[in-house]
Amino acid sequence: MSDLESVFCRTPMWRVAARRLVVPRVLEGPVGPRVLEIGCGSGAMAVEVLRARRDVTRYVATDVDPAMVELASRQLADLGERAEARQVDATGLPYEDATFDTVCSWLMLHHTIEWERVVADAVRVLRPGGRFVGYDLPDSRLSRAVHTLTRSEVRMIAADDLVAELGRLGMRELVVEPLGVAGAYRFSATR
Ligand SMILES: C[S@@+](CC[C@H](N)C(=O)[O-])C[C@H]1O[C@@H](n2cnc3c(N)ncnc32)[C@H](O)[C@@H]1O
Repeated sequence: MSDLESVFCRTPMWRVAARRLVVPRVLEGPVGPRVLEIGCGSGAMAVEVLRARRDVTRYVATDVDPAMVELASRQLADLGERAEARQVDATGLPYEDATFDTVCSWLMLHHTIEWERVVADAVRVLRPGGRFVGYDLPDSRLSRAVHTLTRSEVRMIAADDLVAELGRLGMRELVVEPLGVAGAYRFSATR
């Protein structure tokens, strides 16, 4: 992620968007008790999920970038045992199969380039009946302009391609629909 994006993800505006737009529209039904977030950035989404969802007793916020993990650790410090931040590359999760009830991916898949590998590993660590949820951006003039401006290396994901991959992995109850903001789409799939 570029420095510009990294700064933006720490702003109060981002937190407000997470609270008002993203968490209520993307998370439906129970998500806990054990939640893994891949690509947690500054921890903004983690804080909002934990605020909104008391059924979450263990939220593991992970990111490949140690600077982000440091920031997320600070954000989550007051939450005690309910949350932890760890440096983890989502292309190879260091967790046993079927460890989590929910895996969250908030606007991060397109940053991973090898997103099919990331999705496969997210599915692997979900318990049967667990859900993979989140949102992302398709290829569009807007997303191209943003990433050219920020000089980020990305591989945008069409919603149809994500659905096809989740189906190929045997996921069911596939939902992909517009989030209503900047062309973003939300997704949910059950293992
Ligand atoms: C646009 S930020 C989103 C951060 C956070 N999810 C949010 O919504 O505020 C994308 C994040 O994905 C992380 N990331 C990129 N590739 C990753 C990988 N292979 N494994 C884990 N995290 C990764 C980046 O370091 C960055 O923090």
